Amino acid sequence: MVSRVIPVEPFDLVIFGGTGDLARRKILPGLFRRFCAGQIQGDVRIIGAARAEMDTEGYRQFAAEAIAEFNQGHDCDHGEDQPASLKAFLAMLHYVVLDALGDEGWPKLKDLTRPGRIRAYYFSVAPRLFGPLAEKLHDIGMVDDKARIVVEKPFGRDLQSAKELNRAIATHFSEEQIYRIDHYLGKETVQNLMAIRFGNLLFEPLWNSQYIDHIQITVAEVVGIGTRGDYYDRAGAMRDMMQNHLMQLLCLIAMEPPAKFKPDAVRDEKLKVIRALDPVGPEDVVRGQYEGNGERPGYIHQVGNRDTKTESYVALRARVSNWRWAGTPFYLRTGKRLRERTSEIAVVFKDAPHSIFDEDSGRHSNILTIKLQPNEGIELGVTIKEPGPGGMRLVDVPLDMSFAEALGPEEADFPDAYERLIMDVIRGNQTLFMRGDEVEAAWAWTDAIIEGWKDRGEAPLTYATGSSGPDDALMLMHRDGRRWREIKA
Ligand code: BG6
Repeated sequence: MVSRVIPVEPFDLVIFGGTGDLARRKILPGLFRRFCAGQIQGDVRIIGAARAEMDTEGYRQFAAEAIAEFNQGHDCDHGEDQPASLKAFLAMLHYVVLDALGDEGWPKLKDLTRPGRIRAYYFSVAPRLFGPLAEKLHDIGMVDDKARIVVEKPFGRDLQSAKELNRAIATHFSEEQIYRIDHYLGKETVQNLMAIRFGNLLFEPLWNSQYIDHIQITVAEVVGIGTRGDYYDRAGAMRDMMQNHLMQLLCLIAMEPPAKFKPDAVRDEKLKVIRALDPVGPEDVVRGQYEGNGERPGYIHQVGNRDTKTESYVALRARVSNWRWAGTPFYLRTGKRLRERTSEIAVVFKDAPHSIFDEDSGRHSNILTIKLQPNEGIELGVTIKEPGPGGMRLVDVPLDMSFAEALGPEEADFPDAYERLIMDVIRGNQTLFMRGDEVEAAWAWTDAIIEGWKDRGEAPLTYATGSSGPDDALMLMHRDGRRWREIKA
């Protein structure tokens, strides 16, 4: 199978915060890969804008180093021509020293971007700058129909701040020009979720509470908070992961089939899921904070605050109150410093209504596992007869479709989420971006949970580095006669 790469129209992209971590790790290496793949062609300008004193030559050097560091393992398609490709890519780069709140750099930036072309403004900066940047772009005449902005999370820290951000950018950009990134939506398997559900007849008739016992969504990380203590301690797992990434996965799993795979059709359905979520009571949620283990410091130590009540782990039981899902709980959990890095969605079907086999053949249920990382793929657990003599004993085996095996390594070398999403911005396709009302609805649900913790003065439970999280999280499911799946890659 040979993948088709459709080149995008030439564009000008301004990366505000162009010397930041995201630009270095994801945006610049991602753009280079799309260039290598032939998707970025022609007269393109990529302009880094930041406070750091640097000239265009310096920025090209910065980008070359970022690409060398973060593109490892992803050879440019041009093979031996890699240096030539890199040179051609770097020639597209420019740099402007810019004061987001003052006047410095703006005339130069305006000269570099060309009206009438696709102009994308990537706000890879602190959210407090979103409003001022949008205003400045507008005031100096850099906004026309083909202009668009990309904003990064965190999109607010609660409903109120999200509303303020929405209002600030909406003053100068229409909703069709705003691309709110949730990089989980750019992951290959996440999109595959929609292909599996809506491209096959097989699953959809069973996709409801009559046949599905429950759904588990796990996003487990091995890393801790690293050097992000300042941000993370004000956010916690609920704001950092649950409100956005896990909520988006839940939406895609639970939504009704949209009439078309079009931005508003998809986002309307996702919004309905969020609005159908019941409030989560204290008995439905468990919070945790990791301890150190001699080699690695604990959370409290890393943030330098013994009294911190921020969670690095959260598990909860959610209910989607509508016809399709009444009676099927969704168990969601995410945390740092856990046993393994793994993200998956497990759809656990009900047991067969009646077993025709002997009691000792056991009870078996089908599980459809959608694996997001580290190895992307889909696995369907089916029950078969244990081979060989010895009567009718049943055993569960996986029908495993690893994308790398099924499609070949080259095909399964998927673009990173950021690459795909940036290309969607240029193409003007908002399907995989969050709409303002979606973000606000997600905050309204999350805020109530966080408020509850605050009112009750609740501190998180501790859990060991390398474990599966606090024991109480196990109880959350045990109480319902169910079990979490093992956290394993
Ligand atoms: C980010 C969070 O949005 O997602 C991080 O801020 C987290 O805390 C990261 O580590 C996880 O992303 P991925 O793609 O590595 O699963």
